[in-house]
Amino acid sequence: MSKLETERRFLLKNDDWRAQAAPPQQIEQGYLSVARECTIRARIIGEMAYLTIKGFITHATRSEFEYPIPKEDARAIIDSLCAFQVKKLRHHVRHEGFLFEIDEFFGANAPLIVAELELPAENTPFPRPDWLGEEITADSRFTNAWLSKHPYSTWAAAQRAAPLSGLCQRLGLTAPIFLAPMAGASTPELAAAVANAGGLGALGLGALCAADAQAAIVATRALTERPFQINFFCHTPETPDAERIRIWQNHIAPHFAHLGALPPQGLHAVYASFLEEPALLELALRQRPAAVSFHFGLPAPAQLAALKAAGILTMVSVTQPSEALLAEQAGIDVLIAQGIEAGGHRGMFDPARDPGYSTLALVRLLAGQTTLPIVAAGGIMNGADIRACLHAGAAAAQLGTAFLPCPESGASALWRNKLLDAPATQITDSISGRPARALLNHWHTRIDVPNRPPHAGYPYSYDLGKQLHTAALRHGEHGFAAYWAGAGAARARRMDAAQLMRTLCDELAQA
Ligand SMILES: Cc1cc2nc3c(=O)[nH]c(=O)nc-3n(C[C@H](O)[C@H](O)[C@H](O)COP(=O)(O)O)c2cc1C
Repeated sequence: MSKLETERRFLLKNDDWRAQAAPPQQIEQGYLSVARECTIRARIIGEMAYLTIKGFITHATRSEFEYPIPKEDARAIIDSLCAFQVKKLRHHVRHEGFLFEIDEFFGANAPLIVAELELPAENTPFPRPDWLGEEITADSRFTNAWLSKHPYSTWAAAQRAAPLSGLCQRLGLTAPIFLAPMAGASTPELAAAVANAGGLGALGLGALCAADAQAAIVATRALTERPFQINFFCHTPETPDAERIRIWQNHIAPHFAHLGALPPQGLHAVYASFLEEPALLELALRQRPAAVSFHFGLPAPAQLAALKAAGILTMVSVTQPSEALLAEQAGIDVLIAQGIEAGGHRGMFDPARDPGYSTLALVRLLAGQTTLPIVAAGGIMNGADIRACLHAGAAAAQLGTAFLPCPESGASALWRNKLLDAPATQITDSISGRPARALLNHWHTRIDVPNRPPHAGYPYSYDLGKQLHTAALRHGEHGFAAYWAGAGAARARRMDAAQLMRTLCDELAQA
């Protein structure tokens, strides 16, 4: 029989509760399945045993299906089928008519002690005894299911001491690390690896049609039950300017000629803006990812309202205070503060206006201007960088370039090798028609010559850029590639995503 269980959880300030505690019961439980939506566990408590399925509704409220089973069956299930187990003593302490269950973990989770209070509703008032410490209801690191896989004794001191930001708690993360959405590079495999390690996964869907975007989401869901964001481009659509296109083609024509190729006749918008593609909004509403983020501008008010009504967290890249103000006024939930160090496209709403703030300067500036959660992005390569962003006022850090060398990323072998061997980067708007930071190549040295004409507009220039790259590839020439990378590229490390997440968390804990 199912019931709804609403429970708030707390750390304890001291041992004063022990004086009022009844004799404890021993609990042993093993997990048959641990997913974000639902856990299945066998539990032995005293002489009784149960099989329990718990469904996630909010961090405080769960649906619970619990069935008594023979104790010897529970013993066999825990011993033979459950790789992840938790052992604890449960104390009961009554305080002003409220019953606190205090779990004193032992084994790998010692010396953690957590108090739980079952309430009729999340906002039911209750008395707070002097020994009750910080609330951890929304911090999924303290759930029994998470502790069974990541025992408390393995947490570094700083992990124990530093509570996760409200944003990370809301998303159910265990590390304040977001994978940056990277069109073409943040694959389902990379998104899932970051999410499975406790960060926020990401899919950059800006260059895909709705059907391909859906396939990427489905592929990610097959690899992880944990949260990820999906990301779209929200640029103001530009009408093609035939004269500008002609002038830009003339500027590029000698490079096609050098490769024995002809420049294309017309140029096309290689992908649509979220603003003009209703199928992308429908996809987001159907798939309901944890978060949707936007680059190059804001969605339309009706689009934003629909996403928020569906309970989806909304985020937008901002590069300057005026964009942050517009985003806040529009009702966006989270600001991604993208500094000048960032790899890939700069997120300015108006590409002509780049104030060039560094990531840390922008985070500090925005922290003084808004109460919205801020996620720092740009040049963040290790745990010390993440710590610096958190100190500056960020709720989490978003990393792109650091994940490019991972085998799970969509970066080609050449791109990865170049990133690790020749990591100089420069911003140019000549590749796509919008400023973007890439590994230094012919675009910067041969096409961005002084006094070159203006490009053909976004994303029309990108059409030409992609065609020049294809023509060059036929000659084994990679100098016209769009190898996007951030200014921290020289500090990128070759490891798989799970290993990188572990390394970042260890470094963060020690920073
Ligand atoms: C290869 C690559 C592709 C990117 N594509 C996107 C994208 O599709 N959408 C987006 O919002 N940001 C995109 N970005 C920017 C990132 O979201 C983020 O701002 C940046 O990676 C942070 O800087 P870092 O690369 O130095 O970590 C991209 C960045 C890179 C490196």
